[in-house]
Amino acid sequence: MTKLAEIQAAEQRLLVKTYDRNPILFVGGEGPYTIDEEGNRYLDLLSGIGVNALGYAHPTILKAIAEQSQKLIHTSNLYFHEGQAELAVRLTERTGMDRAFFCNSGTEAWEAALKLARAHAGILREEGKQIGTKFLALEQGFHGRTFGSMATTYKAKYREPFAPVMPDVEFVRFNDVEDLRAKFSNDVCAILVEAIQGEGGVRPLSQEFFAEARKLADSTGALLIADEIQCGMGRSGKWCAYQHFGIQPDITTLAKAIAGGIPMGATLCTEEVARSFHAGVHGTTFGGGPLACAVACAVIDELENSKLLENSTTVGNYFMDGLRKLATRHKIIVDVRGEGMIFAAELNSAALAKQTVAAMLERHILINCTSDTVLRFLPPYIIGTEHADQALAALDEIFTAFESAPAAALATEGEQRG
Ligand SMILES: Cc1ncc(COP(=O)(O)O)c(C=O)c1O
Repeated sequence: MTKLAEIQAAEQRLLVKTYDRNPILFVGGEGPYTIDEEGNRYLDLLSGIGVNALGYAHPTILKAIAEQSQKLIHTSNLYFHEGQAELAVRLTERTGMDRAFFCNSGTEAWEAALKLARAHAGILREEGKQIGTKFLALEQGFHGRTFGSMATTYKAKYREPFAPVMPDVEFVRFNDVEDLRAKFSNDVCAILVEAIQGEGGVRPLSQEFFAEARKLADSTGALLIADEIQCGMGRSGKWCAYQHFGIQPDITTLAKAIAGGIPMGATLCTEEVARSFHAGVHGTTFGGGPLACAVACAVIDELENSKLLENSTTVGNYFMDGLRKLATRHKIIVDVRGEGMIFAAELNSAALAKQTVAAMLERHILINCTSDTVLRFLPPYIIGTEHADQALAALDEIFTAFESAPAAALATEGEQRG
């Protein structure tokens, strides 16, 4: 029995069934490559779903982990350590926010954002304003899998098995300004958006929709909350994707790339919003621990020192240009969109999208498929044009093969996990 087969059998017996894994056993990584137990190198254009912004085994991250773990891995939020203020300075300066709350994952960061919004509306009511408790979320939006996050996540498959979910959430049609206007009222405490929807299919908000959301929120004191868990931390070529629109939300959430692979989340907000929390109303044991904070500071410094946001833009544009060129030759590609290192090629067939991901995997290139037909790319920010060329050549070969054997290519139907 191979090591992989042993692990598969053990997991099958022992783990709660939440993941449908590909049969590959990864044991290491270097730069943009992850390495399996036989020493095969895979070009990871998904970065562990948006996490490994600096790729694998980046010396800056290894150094920060080594140094901090010698000093202090964990204390508790009953005491001070150096890291939270140092990280909060870096994040607030770069995002236009005033204050930070640290936690351990994306969904936790989003839960804190929802709680801030409800508490803020409560304060406004005490001050005599007429404002309710309802959240307006967007169709196709994804915010995580805990109860509040799940309730504000659009796809029914994430919510229905766990009903009843948190009430007081209404979904607005994506980029439909009229629908937003019609559903907005004094009952709303916050409008919830992703500047670029990630799992929803790499779909950017329209400038008009985003601006209208800001305007409507301002008209009542409701909050505009931007989930940057996937598209933030420099992935789009700016620290936060909302900065492409020149629109400042009241709260934003970060996770994924924030600490280069060490679990961490952050909820950032304005001074006005922060006044709705006081000591004891919210917290977490591990959140903002010394190790995660030290690594996150090191990641931010490295992104700046090595000009990796600029690289995200340059190489992302090069990659997307290449995909657009492929689209002129392969009708299977119906759209190419994105910013920096979050981009997608939408195909005209769910079955072929699924097969493309599998064929890329056979060629040792990792991408995935979301929203059935969308090939999603979330590369580490360190890739160069040579990595883009390698992936583009592989896609060209795969699409050419589909065109020469369309019947076989369409043989299987199904949905790839997003
Ligand atoms: C936009 C967005 N929000 C929230 C989450 C949830 O983050 P986590 O899986 O760390 O809980 C994700 C995860 O994919 C996400 O993409």
